[in-house]
Amino acid sequence: MAIIFHEKSKEFHLHNSQISYIIKILENGHLGQLYFGARIHDRDDFGYLLETSHRPMTAYQSEGGNFSLEHIKQEYPVYGTTDFKLPAMEVLQPNGSRITDFSYESHRIYKGKPGLEGLPATYTEDDEEADTLEITLTDRLLGMKLILLYSIFNKENAIARSARFENSTRDSFDITRAMSISLDLPDCDYDWIQFSGAWSRERQVRTRRLEQGIQAVNSSRGHSSHNHNPFIVLKRPTADEFQGEAMGFSLIYSGNFLAQAEVDTYNVTRVMLGINPFTFTWRLDPGEHFQTPEAVAVYSKDGLNGMSQTFHRLFGRRLARGQWRDRVRPILLNNWEATYFDFNEDKLLDIARAAKNDGIELFVLDDGWFGARTDDHAGLGDWYANTDRLPGGIKGLSEKVEALGLKFGLWVELEMVNKNSDLYRAHPDWLLQTPGRPLSPSRHQYVLDLSRPEVVDYIYEMIAAILAESKISYIKWDMNRSITECYSLALPANRQGEVFHRYILGLYSLYERLIEHFPHILFESCASGGARFDAGMLYYAPQCWTSDDTDAAERIKIQYGTSFCYPVSSMGAHVSATPNHQLFRHTPLETRGNVAYFGAFGYELDLQNLSDKERETVREQIRFMKQYRQVIQYGTFYRLQSPFEHNISAWMVVSEDKKTAIVGYYKILNDVNCEYRRLLLKGLDPNMAYQTESGETHYGDELMNLGLITTDPSSGQPASGHPEPGLDICTDFWSKIVVLRGGC
Ligand code: GLA
Repeated sequence: MAIIFHEKSKEFHLHNSQISYIIKILENGHLGQLYFGARIHDRDDFGYLLETSHRPMTAYQSEGGNFSLEHIKQEYPVYGTTDFKLPAMEVLQPNGSRITDFSYESHRIYKGKPGLEGLPATYTEDDEEADTLEITLTDRLLGMKLILLYSIFNKENAIARSARFENSTRDSFDITRAMSISLDLPDCDYDWIQFSGAWSRERQVRTRRLEQGIQAVNSSRGHSSHNHNPFIVLKRPTADEFQGEAMGFSLIYSGNFLAQAEVDTYNVTRVMLGINPFTFTWRLDPGEHFQTPEAVAVYSKDGLNGMSQTFHRLFGRRLARGQWRDRVRPILLNNWEATYFDFNEDKLLDIARAAKNDGIELFVLDDGWFGARTDDHAGLGDWYANTDRLPGGIKGLSEKVEALGLKFGLWVELEMVNKNSDLYRAHPDWLLQTPGRPLSPSRHQYVLDLSRPEVVDYIYEMIAAILAESKISYIKWDMNRSITECYSLALPANRQGEVFHRYILGLYSLYERLIEHFPHILFESCASGGARFDAGMLYYAPQCWTSDDTDAAERIKIQYGTSFCYPVSSMGAHVSATPNHQLFRHTPLETRGNVAYFGAFGYELDLQNLSDKERETVREQIRFMKQYRQVIQYGTFYRLQSPFEHNISAWMVVSEDKKTAIVGYYKILNDVNCEYRRLLLKGLDPNMAYQTESGETHYGDELMNLGLITTDPSSGQPASGHPEPGLDICTDFWSKIVVLRGGC
């Protein structure tokens, strides 16, 4: 068992071969946090870690004692009974009080890991993969129960946590704060890393020193957002990508979140993640329970790459589910940037035919196929084909695409309506809307009230009918606005604080039904690009459109930032036209491919518009990806050099048997007469000889210690004037891929 309970000292030691997590039942029955970090020997009693000297201006739990929660590191702290930091939970009671006192009642230790009703969560495939500790705490005055869940994975340096409130009393309570994880760390010597941005520049890496006070990222937009991601990292300032302590915290949730670290003036750091309390209250009537989403904490002593690789394995293999979890992803062509709304069936089939010719496997029809949708003012909500454009409907088109030898995929945005739609005209009350107040449009659309089961049922029936009659292998599930005027006409006044969370539960239930009934479909989530790229979505859709920004130079940063938490297989990455439609920048086709390879690869253009030479390059790219996608999407990914810090950035993947390694190397601006360069590779077998495509052979230890020579043509005599065709030159946005084959 990876969880030991020491009866006498009342301590729990959760451990595997790499990490230890130690909890103590304190003298008042609350839970103290003693340690989270590298594996240490077990001992009967770690009580010496509880330091309780008498301090001025401190409130104590009893007269004459030294026990103050302010100075004790805790697991799920409350405010107002000697601790003054922001708490993990808060419950408003019938008498107006918010003071609670949940103390230990019992615990259970068992093999495996339970699922969370209606919520995404990591899972095990057999009970040996994880052990779980459930601690039940009771507030004896209220009679309410709190169950804290801890699962430790035996082969991953990860702990999953969540909390459940159970009300078996005759009173009603309002939960106003219910974090998924709270963890007090004994010092604050950390860098805080967050992944922030906006539309088209998602998940930019931002690092700063942790300081006394509160630092936080959050969303109150109804979805996890472009702006901040429900994932943060604390790393030691001396740690880097390859060594040193790093801890990552991910919330498996797609709605409003808070991720925060509060450092008190004794330098204790309290990290917490959960549903954003700002937009949340939950009424708990007698007999009801409330389950928080799950949060995952990963500990690495091998730096940031070590941390990321744990998340990649765990989220790729034990959060993502279904038939597509372990399969290489089809190479697709999406018509959005090729046609926008301007298409008919013939035009689509021409694009698809060219795609098939060049080796594409899946043709995806994006926005504009349904209802009166010929631009973004109308049609959302009417999930039946526009037969002016598609005479045979989706059924007919999908059959024609399949007859070409391609799979067919379809875009939907099921959570939204335009006012100009049959759905809105029939059910105007189905929008989220605040009575008596104007509704704020965004992209001319409004949000359906997914907190209502009848709305979810209706959408399910509409889309299931199309999926059942057509040949659909892939769905791109979009969501293109944030939620304003959040209010449900179906809920009473005292439950309006639940709407944001109920919306997400409705969304999850819709996804769940669809993946259950159509298990062969590959779902790709999307929200104006990457506005809902979170761990919650990965449970339903194993890949996500990383960003609407398909510019290769920008994408290096976006994919690099995304890789801190999310696996390569989850990042939708496409080659698009030049000049790029977001930045109007020209980048070489090779570089667009070299960046997009590191993801779920595809194209976002009309191949018919390319020259013969470019078409040949595309065919070559597709051949390359087919050959190497297993390694790229499921190998071990290493960030080598950051695009946030360098003009030249690099990453690589290594296959499980270490016989194949693929390096992506990207230079933003060209330079002249530059230095000779080497790149230290990672993860190779030091004793294996690796051959490059040019036939050179180097041992793994050479490549990892001396480095791979990456000197490029710019280190030589510049070609004066116009370089001759065929001359090897470097340009801005130049890149290369190096494939290393071991054991040849
Ligand atoms: C969003 C998506 C795009 C595209 C459009 C269609 O912006 O992110 O990829 O599907 O919607 O309207």
